[in-house]
Amino acid sequence: MRRERVMEAEGLGAASSIDALAGHVERVLAELEAVESSLDLARVREAAIGPTSLLATLSRSLRDLDPSQRSIVGRAVSDARRRVTDALERAGRRVREAELERQLQAERSDPTTGLVRSALDGTGARHLVARARMELEDVFWRLGFEVATGPEVEDEWHNFEALNVAEFHPARAAQDSFYLDVPASPPLLLRTHTSPAQIRLMRRGRLPIYAVVPGRVYRRDTPDARHTPAFHQIEALVVDEGISFAHLKGTIEAFTSAYFGPHIASRLRPAYFPFTEPSAEFEVTCTICGGQGCRTCSGTGWIELGGAGMVHERVLEAGGLDPTSVSGFAFGFGIDRLVQMRYGIADMRILPDNDVRLLWQTRGEA
Ligand code: DAH
Repeated sequence: MRRERVMEAEGLGAASSIDALAGHVERVLAELEAVESSLDLARVREAAIGPTSLLATLSRSLRDLDPSQRSIVGRAVSDARRRVTDALERAGRRVREAELERQLQAERSDPTTGLVRSALDGTGARHLVARARMELEDVFWRLGFEVATGPEVEDEWHNFEALNVAEFHPARAAQDSFYLDVPASPPLLLRTHTSPAQIRLMRRGRLPIYAVVPGRVYRRDTPDARHTPAFHQIEALVVDEGISFAHLKGTIEAFTSAYFGPHIASRLRPAYFPFTEPSAEFEVTCTICGGQGCRTCSGTGWIELGGAGMVHERVLEAGGLDPTSVSGFAFGFGIDRLVQMRYGIADMRILPDNDVRLLWQTRGEA
């Protein structure tokens, strides 16, 4: 009788409330099984425990129930709520993991570009300057030269004095240098050219010398399209009995045609360097216009590559050699400049940038 009154009053009896709740829970659990996205999950959550859900409605109506009914229905409501929220939590975890996985798949970087790709296909991507240096070493090696090295940190004597560059010589001021901030006498600096290696080769005391020394050099130049403060040179030194200017000219010609091909010629023009006498600048046919004359070569058809000359007597002496019994020639030039010409690189500053796209783009060449 009493129970009937309650049922009438609430429009829903405890028993049928509990049945309805059980049905609700089953439906929610089944729907959660099928949920695949957080959007789906939010929709199911709203229907399961949102303000208009059966659970919320029943919770709200508890206070109007008869106390004995209230405890039965109340327990059923809290059981149902616990099962539903547990299931929501599990489904949430599953959906988040799946979504993260999908996102990772979608955003996975493409390992078939650039360095990774070249590493994967086993061919590597050497820097243009490193490649040019190796090719030069190869050319000179085939001409019978030894490939030697010298230190990048030099003292003033090797870098200047021994090369006949006097303390107040303009060349010394012009080659604005990086000095090391360490107490040393004479002061230490980063070599401004590879020429000090000449002195070290001579002072080994073994003759004859047919050597090239490639390496990094440093000058306090402001970076611009044609300059970077760290760049590369290759120095050549030959000291033997009876070495003449003709040997110098022949070697430069052999080197330029081996490196650039037979269509590229070389020429020497008078110049001044303290460490050679006579001195020359050597130029090669402009590779951009093939000698016709263009902007790169200022219309001359020639590009200056480096300096050369017969090793100065004082330099031979500083090297511990006797100028009356041996003579030699030397030349040196910038490898970066060579690369700039060969690849038509407008701005030198991209070379130390080391952008993998440049390496990749030029990898297959030469
Ligand atoms: N050391 C010179 C420079 O850095 C280049 C050079 C000139 C090297 C004449 C030589 C040479 O060996 O004979 O500008």
